[in-house]
Order: sequence, then structure tokens, then C-alpha cells
Amino acid sequence: MEIAVIGAGAIGGNLARKLSAAGHDVEVAAARGPETIPADVLASGVRAATPAAAVRDKDVVILSIPFGRVPELADLLASVPGETVVVDTSNYYPHLNGYIDAVDNGQVESLWIAEQLGRPVVKAWNAALAGTQQTKGVVPGTPGRIAIPVAADSDEARRVAMRLVDETGFDPFHAGVLADSWRQQPGTPAYCTELSLEDLGPALAAADRAEAPRTRDRLMEHFAVLTSTPTLEEVVETNRSAHR
Ligand SMILES: NC(=O)c1ccc[n+]([C@@H]2O[C@H](COP(=O)([O-])OP(=O)(O)OC[C@H]3O[C@@H](n4cnc5c(N)ncnc54)[C@H](OP(=O)(O)O)[C@@H]3O)[C@@H](O)[C@H]2O)c1
Repeated sequence: MEIAVIGAGAIGGNLARKLSAAGHDVEVAAARGPETIPADVLASGVRAATPAAAVRDKDVVILSIPFGRVPELADLLASVPGETVVVDTSNYYPHLNGYIDAVDNGQVESLWIAEQLGRPVVKAWNAALAGTQQTKGVVPGTPGRIAIPVAADSDEARRVAMRLVDETGFDPFHAGVLADSWRQQPGTPAYCTELSLEDLGPALAAADRAEAPRTRDRLMEHFAVLTSTPTLEEVVETNRSAHR
């Protein structure tokens, strides 16, 4: 497929690399221009482009930029045909992204994103840590393969995104429609807890909508006061322990 990735950081850079390695034709763009895209992102055949050039004639456009900056992409996305699958990886962390009343008042994050862009999106790759996505992808059928929830209103768009999740090394999980995707937001049991396909469904079902933002903020306060950087395993264990 022809794929654009907007955002070349921890998540976007990794997705661009992996999807190119899987055989797709991938162009990647960042805010500061094509010349700033890290060399390791381009090493696997990924091409650097401006955002406007990157999204041209693509089957899939993956947005991997900070949540609060997604509205900056509305004009860019207006040039993208309706049949192009747009996938968003973002999460709302108000102390990092700025407070957004509608989301603080309970609007589902992906629905806010879709509203800002004026088009539907698929929500995927948001509920796995960068370290998980970079280091724990394995081939299908590997015991204990980590699963990633994929939510969308369009069955076809979700199917396309699920195939791509599989190609990045994770079991794709059909997580329903965007209105359900609060179950994979920060502070929920399914969020960044490295669950298998078998365990992810019950975790999504166990999510508590009112409690999730409080758990998100409590976890962020916990990580903020640590005096050394936690390992990936420690972060995952802390996330899991918030739901025991
Ligand atoms: N890090 C994680 O563990 C993790 C896990 C799951 C999901 N996510 C979500 O995935 C998204 C990306 O996270 P990340 O950790 O990859 O962030 P990051 O490392 O900070 O990278 C952000 C990228 O977005 C680009 N960008 C920002 N505004 C842009 C704009 N208006 N147009 C084009 N590019 C723009 C930046 O370009 P410049 O470098 O040129 O500024 C940078 O390449 C976030 O929404 C985050 O919540 C993160």
C-alpha cells in the first residue's frame, strides 16, 4: 500500500520503518521539515517529504503527532480523499498537551479528533508504549504475542488498520466503533499493559469511564517524581498494578 506517516517521533518513526520493511511504500513528514527526519527512520527505504506531499495519493495516512496539535492538520486532511484510511495514534495528556474542555468533560478522544479533522479516523497503536512497539513486535502465532486494540466506525477502514497492526508485530483486536474507544484511552486496564489477544477483550470490558482520567493522572504523578527512568517492564507493571 501507499502509506503516509505524519510525525516521525517515537511512534511515527517506528511505524514508518516497520511498514516499509513489511513491503509498503512509505513517506514520512514532521513539523520541522523533511531534512529533520532522523536517518534511522529513512534507513529502511522510507522517504522524507513535506506533509502536503506525503499525503498525496495515499491508501492510508497515519497521524502520529501530539493530541493537541492534531487540529493543525485539518487543512492538510481536507485535501485527502474520503476513501483514504486515516489512522490516529494520539492520546490526551492534558498537562502535556494543554487542557481541552470537551475532552475533560468526557468527549471520547477519537471523536474529538474526528471532529477537529472533519472526517472519521481509525484509532490504533495508541494503547502500546513506544518501547513496546519498538521492541516487542513478533511474527503471528508467537505465544504471548501482544495485542493492540483498533477502533473505527468503518468496517473496511478498521480491517485495513488491523492488517497493518499485524504487520508491525502485534495481534490486532477489533475494539468496536469510535464511541467505544474510551476503553483504550489512558488510565484504562487495556492501556499500555502489554496484554495478549485473550486478555485484551476482558480488559477493555473492565474499563471504568469515570475512573480512567483519574488513574491516568495518578500514574503520571507517580512517574513524574521518580528519580531514575523506569524500565519498560517497570512502566508496564505500574500500569497493570493500577487496576488490581
Ligand atoms: N510515546 C509513546 O509511548 C506513545 C505511545 C502510544 C501513542 N502515543 C501517541 O502517539 C503520538 C506521537 O507520539 P510520539 O511519542 O511519537 O511523539 P514525539 O516523539 O514527540 O514525535 C512527535 C512528532 O510529531 C511531529 N509533529 C508535531 N506537530 C506536527 C504537525 N503539526 N505537523 C507535522 N508533524 C508534526 C513532530 O515533528 P518535529 O520533530 O519536527 O517537531 C514529531 O516528529 C502522540 O499523540 C502520543 O500521545 C505515544
